[in-house]
Amino acid sequence: MSSINSTLQSLKLVSPEASCNTDLSKGPWLFDTGAPAYGPGSSQEDVAPVSTPRQGDIPAEYREASDAELTTRILAAKKTLGESLVVLGHHYQRDEVVAFADFVGDSFQLANAALTREKAKYIVFCGVHFMAETADVLSTPEQQVILPNLAAGCSMADMADESSVEECWEQLMDLYADESDADGKAAVIPVTYMNCSAALKAFVGKHGGIVCTSSNAATVLEWAFERGRRVLFFPDQHLGRNTAKAMGVPLEKMPMWNPRKALGGNDAATLLDSKVILWHGFCSVHKRFTVAQIEKARAEHPGVRILAHPECPMPVVDAADEAGSTDYIQKAVANAPAGSVFGIATEINMVNRLAAAHPEHTIFCLDPVICPCSTMYRIHPGYLAWVLEALVDGVVLNKITVADDVAADAKVALERMLAARP
Ligand code: 13P
Ligand code: SF4
Repeated sequence: MSSINSTLQSLKLVSPEASCNTDLSKGPWLFDTGAPAYGPGSSQEDVAPVSTPRQGDIPAEYREASDAELTTRILAAKKTLGESLVVLGHHYQRDEVVAFADFVGDSFQLANAALTREKAKYIVFCGVHFMAETADVLSTPEQQVILPNLAAGCSMADMADESSVEECWEQLMDLYADESDADGKAAVIPVTYMNCSAALKAFVGKHGGIVCTSSNAATVLEWAFERGRRVLFFPDQHLGRNTAKAMGVPLEKMPMWNPRKALGGNDAATLLDSKVILWHGFCSVHKRFTVAQIEKARAEHPGVRILAHPECPMPVVDAADEAGSTDYIQKAVANAPAGSVFGIATEINMVNRLAAAHPEHTIFCLDPVICPCSTMYRIHPGYLAWVLEALVDGVVLNKITVADDVAADAKVALERMLAARP
C-alpha cells in the first residue's frame, strides 16, 4: 500500500475533493511562514495561539532532496550516532518517518521509552510538542530531547492554557470553600490528559493531581476519586466523558467548563453536584468520526468490528464495539483471527499502516476522507535528516527544554501516573 503522502499526491491529480486538503502533500516548510496556524489537515479550522512555536526555514538541501536521498542520509547519520541516539515515533506519524523510528508506540509507551533509554544522549521525538516536553521531564539531565519540526504542536493541547485553567481553579476553590471535608477528601482533583503543556502538568502536580493517557484514564480517575470528591478533567472533554461514563458517572454530573464564561457557563448548584468537570477541548482528528459512518460500515460489512479511539465523541464510542488507545487498537488488530474486518476511528496514517501490515484482515478508516493530524504531519524526513546530520556535527537543533521548576512539578504528576495501577 502506498503512503498517505503519495496517496495525496495522486488524489491531487484525479480527485481533490477526496481529501481534506491536498496541499498537505507539499513540504510542511511551506506552512511555516505567516501567522501561526496548524496548517492543512484536520486542525486547519482551529485557531492557533499567537505563542505557537514557529519552525523557521531549514536549508534548501533538505527541502529539495529526493526521498531516496533523505533515506540514505538519515540512515548514515543514525549509523554514525549509534547508541547515543534513539528515535521515537508516535503511531500517527507518516510512514516515511516511522521507517526510521527505533520505537513506535502510543503516548504512554513513548513516555516510558524516554524514561528507559538511558544510554541515548539524544532523544529525537517524532511526535508532537507535548510528547517531547514529557520526554524532557522524564529523561536524565545528560539527555537532550529534539523535536524535528517545532511547529508540530497539538490543537487540543492548545485549547487549555495555563491562565484559563488557573482562573477556573480559583473559581472552583471559592465555590467549594464552605464544603464539608469530613470525608477527608479534597473538593476537586485536577486530572490532565497527557496532551497538554508541561506548565499544565506542573499545575496538576502542585495541586495534588495527576496526568493520564488514553490507555490509563480509568485507572487514573479511580486514583483521583480515592482522593477527591470530584475531578476537573482537561483538556479533552471526550476522553473525560467517555471514561467517566464507562465507570458509571451519570452525564448530568459531568458539566462542561467553557473558559470564556463565568463559572464555565454553569450555575453553582450544578458544579456543587458534579463528579467530573469537563474542559471544553477536543481533537479535530477524532471529531470527524460519526455514528452515521459506523452505521454505513455495519450495513456494508456485516460482522465488522468497530474500534474507536476514546478521543472520539461519546455517541461514536457508544456505537463502536470497543474503544482504546492507539496501542489498544494495534493489539486488537494483531490478535484477531485472520479474515477479520475492522472499521477504525482514528488517525489515517495509523489505520493505513495497520491495513498494510495485516493483509490477512480487511481494515479501513471510518472517515472516508484522507485527512491526517495536521501537526503530526509536520514532521517530514527532511526535518529528521536536518536534525540528525546536525547531531553528527555536534550541533543540537530544536532542543525542547522544560524549565527546572516547571519540570519538577510536572514530574510529580507524571510519576503519580506511572505508579497508578488498576
Ligand atoms: P495515544 O497514542 O495515547 O492513544 O494518543 C493519541 C493522540 O492523540 C496522541 O496525540
Ligand atoms: Fe492533538 Fe488530535 Fe493530533 Fe493527537 S491526533 S496530536 S490530540 S490534534
